[in-house]
Amino acid sequence: MDKPKIVVFTGAGVSADSGIATFRDADGLWANYRIEEVCTPEALQHNRAKVIEFYNLRRKESLTKRPNAGHLAIASLEEWADVTVITQNVDNLHEQAGSKRVLHLHGELMKLRSERNAELIYDINEGWEQSLDARGEDGALLRPHIVFFGESVPMFEPACRVVATADILIVVGTSLAVYPAASLVYYVRNREVPIYLVDPGEPNTSNIRNPLTHIKERGAVGVPQLVERLRNEFKR
Ligand code: APR
Repeated sequence: MDKPKIVVFTGAGVSADSGIATFRDADGLWANYRIEEVCTPEALQHNRAKVIEFYNLRRKESLTKRPNAGHLAIASLEEWADVTVITQNVDNLHEQAGSKRVLHLHGELMKLRSERNAELIYDINEGWEQSLDARGEDGALLRPHIVFFGESVPMFEPACRVVATADILIVVGTSLAVYPAASLVYYVRNREVPIYLVDPGEPNTSNIRNPLTHIKERGAVGVPQLVERLRNEFKR
């Protein structure tokens, strides 16, 4: 039998059990920072130091974090399924856990890119600090390789195409509040594709018409349970 195609769509909640704050929970990042001051193209233009410092702090923090049981369970799906992870997260915990195909919708903390040429992308191989005057080989200033609010999401269309191939869609730890990312759940190929959601909160699922199973647990508990359940169903 062919391997089932599983697409896993994750948000900040999947990394919460690794100790990385989410955005919109009570203790989330957006309770402590104003989006328009740190995560918009205008902020980068007018308040560059603050934006760079914000991402330097995120990067410094992320270097101390390790994948949790949720990331590891997602990676283990590859033992019997054809898996693509689509993440809104800018950390690399899915990769650290061993997931082979990871598409980052909102960019990656450990990369910088030229402000002039979006194709000129650099890996940060050492440390966490981007200096304010770092430049690319085109002479332009570098910026975090992050999709800011108000910017287009170049990986959205590739992500839609991946979701359309799914036999099963798993959604973990996202409020489904930020578009276009949240609309990915509507790109499954038909109304029969089962959607599993692992989230201790109440993400916005009101428009989902597919069979939906909400496992109301945190990621490190609910994802391993779900993966075990799917493995057993597939073996039958
Ligand atoms: N395990 C799983 N899910 C959790 C946990 C946990 N331990 N703790 C919280 N959550 C859930 C919350 O219930 C919520 O549904 O994680 C979700 C976090 O939602 P947001 O903070 O809105 O994060 P996310 O959906 O990833 O945000 C989308 O917004 O600011 C931007 O670019 C940023 O990619 C991000 C986008």
